Formats: sequence, structure tokens, C-alpha cells
Amino acid sequence: MQNPSVLVLDSGIGGLSITQEIRKLCPQLHITYLADLAAFPYGPKSGEQIVDRVVYLMEQLVPIISPQLAVVACNTASTVALPAIRQQFDIPVVGVVPAIKPAAKLTHTGVIGMLATEGTVNRSYTHNLIKEFAHHREVFLHGSAHLVLLAEEKLRSGQVDPEEVKREAWPLISKSQSMDTVVLACTHFPLLREELIAGFPQIKFWVDSGNAIARRVLDLLGEGASQITSGNKKNLFINTAATQAPYYKPLMLELLGEFEYSSLK
Ligand code: DGL
Repeated sequence: MQNPSVLVLDSGIGGLSITQEIRKLCPQLHITYLADLAAFPYGPKSGEQIVDRVVYLMEQLVPIISPQLAVVACNTASTVALPAIRQQFDIPVVGVVPAIKPAAKLTHTGVIGMLATEGTVNRSYTHNLIKEFAHHREVFLHGSAHLVLLAEEKLRSGQVDPEEVKREAWPLISKSQSMDTVVLACTHFPLLREELIAGFPQIKFWVDSGNAIARRVLDLLGEGASQITSGNKKNLFINTAATQAPYYKPLMLELLGEFEYSSLK
């Protein structure tokens, strides 16, 4: 099978947490990663702004890279833009939405927290997910824009202050002493998993959609995808903010593998 190409996009580096899961299952898959750092962050933007932006970016990129499939590796964008994207592009589009359903199954105490951007916390898509899959659970939500910045900071500098991560998540965790499960409903947050686990040992399950998304991608690519053994093209990292060089290099190498860098206006 020819090495298939997948487009993964996010406002920043959060989608690399999804890319990492995809690469665990299929390291040879060719990935074009689009970080829309010119429009970062998406969290505070309106639904309409996000739909316009993501559709615009895909209009620029899809004809050039001809991906077999696209992953909107961003909960903030997926919870609002998937219908418009699917209507416009005739490739399969996988979205990343809050992992409420698995969390509702995992919890022992019946109390779940969801950490996301304010955008995702406020979307009717999220509230419908909770009604459908967690109506029998107690669910607390918290939106933090600063935690997104901390994840970017961690990838940029290789370090982050664990106390700051803890402070940002505390408003959620403090809502109930019985909370044992937290949904990381922003793709930036699994990149802070280590600090979150250390800060809140009482939380048994930190749940994200990464592995499920990776399995869905391979399913859609079909039988041969998991058997690809050689790929000769380097992955591609595209940044919409030309002024920001790929300063994430060491960690990006780990998450994305060898890559080429390009910018998109
Ligand atoms: N990584 C994104 C998400 O999954 C959003 C971060 C942002 O741009 O605010 O929601």
C-alpha cells in the first residue's frame, strides 16, 4: 500500500497529543501537521470565527497536499465546525470531541470533571454529549485558557511550573471530593498529564480521546494502513505564524518524528 497522508490540524501544538497516538499505532503514516498559531488560541473565539478559519485553512491546504483523511485535532473546533467541514470536503474528516462517554463508564464514584477551553465548556455539542452519555452521572465543567498556554510553554521551553498547572486545574477538582475521573477535553491537556497526575493523586482516571481517534483513523484508512512498513517522506509541520520558527523542536521530534517545516499565510 502506498504510504497514505493524513492532515492533522489544531490552533497550536495540542494536536500533537493526537498525532502521538496515531504514530504509536502507525509510525510510518505520513502526517502533515498544521498549527494555526496565527489565530491561536481558538478557545475565546466565536463558533462562526472558528468555522470560517478552519474551512479557509483546509481550502488552502487540501488541494496542495491531497490528504486521504483529515483530523480536526481540536475539541474547540470539532464541537462547532465538523458539519461545515464535512459538507465542503469529500475526504473523511475525524473530529476530536470530549471523551464523556468512556469517562461515564470508568468512574467508580459517579462524579466526573471535564477540563477544556471556555469555548468547549459552553458549546451545546458538549451539553448534548453529557445529556446522552452521562445523564446518570454528576458532571462538573471548567474552562481554562491559561492551561492551554502552559501546554504551549511546556513544549516550547521543555518545562512548566507544576504548581501553576495545579492552580489552573484546582477550580475543577475542588468542586467535589468524590470526583475520581477527569476528561481532558482539550488536545493541549494530555501534554500536561504528568503534572496533573502528580498534582491530584486522588483522581483515578484521566481520560482523553487520543487512542480512540488513532484507532478511528486507521479504521478509515483501511486494512493495509497498519501494515505500512516503510515511508520515505518526512512528516511536515506547517505553521500559519511565519514569525514563530519551529521552536518546539526537541519535543516535536519525539511527538512528530523527523519533520520538514513550512509556513502558510
Ligand atoms: N487544542 C484545542 C482544543 O482541543 C484548543 C486550544 C485553543 O486554541 O484555545 O480545544
